[in-house]
Amino acid sequence: MCGIVGVLGKHQAAPILVEALKRLEYRGYDSAGIATVNNGTLERRRAVGKLVHLSDLLVHEPLAGKSGIGHTRWATHGAPSTKNAHPHQAGPVAVVHNGIVENFKELRDKLAKLGLYHETETDTETVALLAQHYLSQGDSPRLAAQKTVGCLEGAFALAFLFHGEEDLMIAARKGSPLAIGHGDGEMYVGSDAIALAPLTDRISYMDEGDFAVLTRESLEITDKNGKLVNREIRKIAFDSARVDKAGYKHFMAKEIAEQPSVLTNTLRNYISADDKNIELPSNNINLAKIERLTIVACGTAFYAALTAKYWFEKIVRIPVEVDVASEFRYREPPVTPGTTAIFVSQSGETADTLAALRYMALKGATVLSVVNVPESSIARESDLVLPSYAGIEIGVASTKAFTAQLTVLALLAVKTAHAKGVINDIQYQEYITDLNCIPRLISQALSIDVAVQKVAQKLATAQDIIFLGRGSMYPLAMEGALKLKEISYIHAEGYPSGELKHGPIALIDKKVPVVVLAPMDALFEKSVSNMQEVMARAGKVLLLSCQQGLNAASDGTWATISMPAAPELITPIIYAVPAQLLAYYTAVAKGTDADQPRNLAKSVTVE
Ligand code: M6R
Repeated sequence: MCGIVGVLGKHQAAPILVEALKRLEYRGYDSAGIATVNNGTLERRRAVGKLVHLSDLLVHEPLAGKSGIGHTRWATHGAPSTKNAHPHQAGPVAVVHNGIVENFKELRDKLAKLGLYHETETDTETVALLAQHYLSQGDSPRLAAQKTVGCLEGAFALAFLFHGEEDLMIAARKGSPLAIGHGDGEMYVGSDAIALAPLTDRISYMDEGDFAVLTRESLEITDKNGKLVNREIRKIAFDSARVDKAGYKHFMAKEIAEQPSVLTNTLRNYISADDKNIELPSNNINLAKIERLTIVACGTAFYAALTAKYWFEKIVRIPVEVDVASEFRYREPPVTPGTTAIFVSQSGETADTLAALRYMALKGATVLSVVNVPESSIARESDLVLPSYAGIEIGVASTKAFTAQLTVLALLAVKTAHAKGVINDIQYQEYITDLNCIPRLISQALSIDVAVQKVAQKLATAQDIIFLGRGSMYPLAMEGALKLKEISYIHAEGYPSGELKHGPIALIDKKVPVVVLAPMDALFEKSVSNMQEVMARAGKVLLLSCQQGLNAASDGTWATISMPAAPELITPIIYAVPAQLLAYYTAVAKGTDADQPRNLAKSVTVE
């Protein structure tokens, strides 16, 4: 939610800020804005909508100055409008903020009593007004910012800039990530390292409660107890921070296409060179002792978790509870000794998932995480991190990160089953062989591209679409529906095939396409029966199966897509491809923005 950036540089800040915001736009694109200090004067430019509107504005109304802050917004408090866009300024101070100030109403009332009134509906303006108040009391910028931060409840990453201060920026972190970039006589802050990658490869990450005072030549960080601290400066590989479409029309298309190489990389990081063993990062966790699992996640990561339930229950033979993070902790689930919990997240910053992790850690559970961003909060607070190695994912709709999560969870399930002695050495080897087939079969699955494009033209005119799946295809049916809703804005639902007749079948008529995910497995016949029930009610069935399955069951269907036959373990990973492609090409056919769909942001760092 929202991306922030700041620069104390040697060159004009505005173009640098805009370039960095471009790399943060995946975090929100309701509005964008920048503020700079030029000859001591604080000035800002803001525009509603995507960053391009701010760039256009800057052509006509340029902003000079070598120090600046910038923001790209996903609206929480107050509609997307120019007035509500960041940076928020109150007299001599401007602020950009990612997060939510939970006590802002109370603070707003206090400020009003002091004669300081809000002009916007945002919680962030409260921060600027508080800082203004302390400055007017004679406090230095540093003390004013410190006192301001001390008043705030909730989650925030903040950067402050001050009138008359060309060589000062203040940053604070509580609950939302913030990185500091170290340049040569320059300093930067950014919501993540990607934003700063073209500027510097020397990054330090602020910890929870850190407060930083930056000048071009210095950095002073105090921790949550006010103690001076050093945060390690790490070298980030520029390659891992490369962000371009490589000739594709959308990042989403590129990210779907690169899955064979991404998953090769994921497998390489876990399977030994002789293909004999699955190797996890070194840890003290005894997999053989795991008796049950709780897996928690949001959105697409939740569907990866739900798929993992099938693997862990069927292969490892342990009970697994899966929950959406936003529901999990408010139920106050009891945690018994020896509980192991897995948290799945692409960003590693999802507020609900992080809060659920903290709940479980506090109750004494062993915490594992499957994350794509290794420096993220979820990674840093886990006992064992299993990186998914998907590389940077820019498309708001998660694709390669999902299949990488699935791959890691499948690897973990097989490793755990072997460690517990539930599968023998031969079965272990067979599963490793199956896992090694993922990249090749994903490549084959990608060749359905043209067939999917044709079907998508027809799907684009539908108002409702139903996805059906049985067994591990059920989570995938929900993932297919989520993808489609997210980027094409067509209403879609995923159901377990066998559940349709218990109610949702009432929705079926000749206008409703029904996508049936039916690999040739033990449940195939049952899936076909459920499909027949749909066709008997004039439903338009799009059947996805291997050629053998299509030969057996395609009579009377509206359309078919032929998938490669795959070993049962990895079938959900392979069938993720058509789910992604259907959503993508339907969005393209409808002309919606596949990379930046309306109302969404990639990283949801608010509850
Ligand atoms: O970063 P996370 O994996 O924790 O994000 C979880 C969800 O917000 C995310 O999967 C969301 O549902 C995606 N936009 C789905 O495509």
